[in-house]
Amino acid sequence: MTADKTAINEAMNEAPDKANKLRASDVYRENLQFWHQAWGMCTKPYTKMPELEYLPWIPERLKAASAERILDLGCGSGWLSVFLAREGFKVTGIDVAGHALDLGRQWAEMEGLNIKFDAGDLGDLPYADNSFDAVVANSIIEHLPLSLALVAMSRLKSAVKPGGTFIGCFDKVGTGPGEYYKLEDGTQVYTDKSRKGMMLRYFPDEEIRELLTGWEVVELKTLDSGSRFVVAHT
Ligand SMILES: C[S@@+](CC[C@H](N)C(=O)[O-])C[C@H]1O[C@@H](n2cnc3c(N)ncnc32)[C@H](O)[C@@H]1O
Repeated sequence: MTADKTAINEAMNEAPDKANKLRASDVYRENLQFWHQAWGMCTKPYTKMPELEYLPWIPERLKAASAERILDLGCGSGWLSVFLAREGFKVTGIDVAGHALDLGRQWAEMEGLNIKFDAGDLGDLPYADNSFDAVVANSIIEHLPLSLALVAMSRLKSAVKPGGTFIGCFDKVGTGPGEYYKLEDGTQVYTDKSRKGMMLRYFPDEEIRELLTGWEVVELKTLDSGSRFVVAHT
């Protein structure tokens, strides 16, 4: 076993305790506060879809897996939820920022789409086993420190049906502007005014695979943007 593997295995064992302590800490509260404030500045849904090379791949992969019930993790104001609901998927979005969810609800109502938007923290996912066929996670896991990401991924494995699907996109991290300090696990905690409190962590490919322990990774590719697109099945 490599030193890195040992480190992530240890991290997995310690993750639940560490995640609980972290969630009770001021640094984590400030991180959530950042998201509440950021979304609080939006007054109406921003309804333009982002131009992402991998966007068409998502419904494609979901259809290939015969997935119907989709969980959109860290859905924000719901562009991916809307995108998938338009394609006929039954979508639930979850995000910690209630205001973002209200914007998503407005957008869904404008389009006559039936999307369920739930408020919740990814460190404490509220879903029963087998609630979904698939989970999509766009630009969200990298906003979780390692212990929380491990806890969330482990919980998701049960929340999707056996044979269920994970589709994620992990953004390139660490090259943008801003000042930050690092937590022990490498999570960057921003200190500059515009992103004060926000957490961002780089997950190398090996760690993405380790996060998906117990899933079969069928695709992991680096895009021109430097983001990683990943598909896995339980
Ligand atoms: C970079 S945005 C991505 C939003 C959306 N997935 C997208 O692709 O545009 C990260 C989202 O995750 C939410 N978020 C951050 N930390 C979270 C947590 N611990 N639990 C739930 N949602 C969280 C934020 O409110 C924000 O909407």
